[in-house]
Amino acid sequence: MTTSAPVPSRSPERKKITIPAFQKMKSEGKRICMLTAYDYPTALALDEAGIDAILVGDSLAMVVLGYENTLAVSMDEMIHHCRAVRRGASAALLIGDMPFLSYQVSPTEAVRNAGRFLQEGGMDAVKLEGGRERLETVGRIVEAGIPVMGHLGLTPQSVHRLGGFRPQGRTAEAARRLLEDALLLEQAGCFSLVLESVPARLARLVSERLSIPTIGIGAGAGCDGQVLVTHDLLGLFERFRPRFVKQYANLYAEMRRAFGEYIADVQTGRFPAAQHTVEMPDEEWEELRQMLADGTHA
Ligand code: KIV
Repeated sequence: MTTSAPVPSRSPERKKITIPAFQKMKSEGKRICMLTAYDYPTALALDEAGIDAILVGDSLAMVVLGYENTLAVSMDEMIHHCRAVRRGASAALLIGDMPFLSYQVSPTEAVRNAGRFLQEGGMDAVKLEGGRERLETVGRIVEAGIPVMGHLGLTPQSVHRLGGFRPQGRTAEAARRLLEDALLLEQAGCFSLVLESVPARLARLVSERLSIPTIGIGAGAGCDGQVLVTHDLLGLFERFRPRFVKQYANLYAEMRRAFGEYIADVQTGRFPAAQHTVEMPDEEWEELRQMLADGTHA
C-alpha cells in the first residue's frame, strides 16, 4: 500500500479548516466557498486564494479525463488526483468524491474505499451520492471515523436512471422526498450536504431545516455555501455549460491562442530567440574548433 502524500508547507498563515470549523461557519452565518481541483497547481492557487474547501470531484472523469459522464472514473484514478491536490493545498478542507461502484456494492467495500481516500489520497473527508438508500453505508463510514458529505438532487452517477443531467425536486412530492432524504442523511451522520440542481426555494427550506451546512450548485443563494466545477468557472470545459455556471475566465480560448502563437513562432524561427538560448564561453568554443581542425578528434 502507498503511504499518504506529504503535507505541503505553503500558506502557513492560514489555519487548516477542520470539520468543526467548516460546520461552525453555518452557525456564524459565514458563506462557505468550495471549488473542485484535480491537480497540484490548481489546489495551490485555490488554497492561496482562500478557498474553504476543495472537492476532488468525480467530475474529473469529464473535465480532465474526457469521459462521456462520471461513471467511468476508477478509485485508482481518483486517488492519484487526490494525492496531487493534497500536495498543493495546506489549509482548505479536502473532500474526495467516491466514484461509481466504490460504495454502492456493500457497506464494507464502501468503508474500505472511503478509507483509501484518507490513507492514500490525503483527504479529510469523502462525498457520496444518494439519499435513504445510503443510510447504512453513511453510518458505517462515519463509524469508522471518516467524515461524509452527502449529495442530493441531480446526482450525476444516476444519469441513466434520471434520463439526463436534469433539475430535480420540482414537484411537491419530489421536493418532500428530497427534504426527508436530507434529514435522514443528517441523522445518519453526514457533516454536510451538496444540493445540486434543485429549486432555490427548496434548497433554502432544506438549509433552514438542517443544522449541518448545505453546499449548493445550481440550487440558488439560500444554501450555506456554494460549489462549482473549477473547469466551468475558468472556461476550460467547452463541451457544455450548465445554466447555473458563472464563468469568470475563458482559459480554453487563452490556451488555444498561446498554443497557436507558439506554433507560429517555431515555424517562422521567432522562437527560440537569444534570451531563450544557452551559450558556452568563446574560449571553449575556440578550443573545440581547434580540436576538430587538428583532425585528431571526431
Ligand atoms: O464531481 C463533482 O465535481 C461534484 C460537484 C459538482 C458537486 O460532485
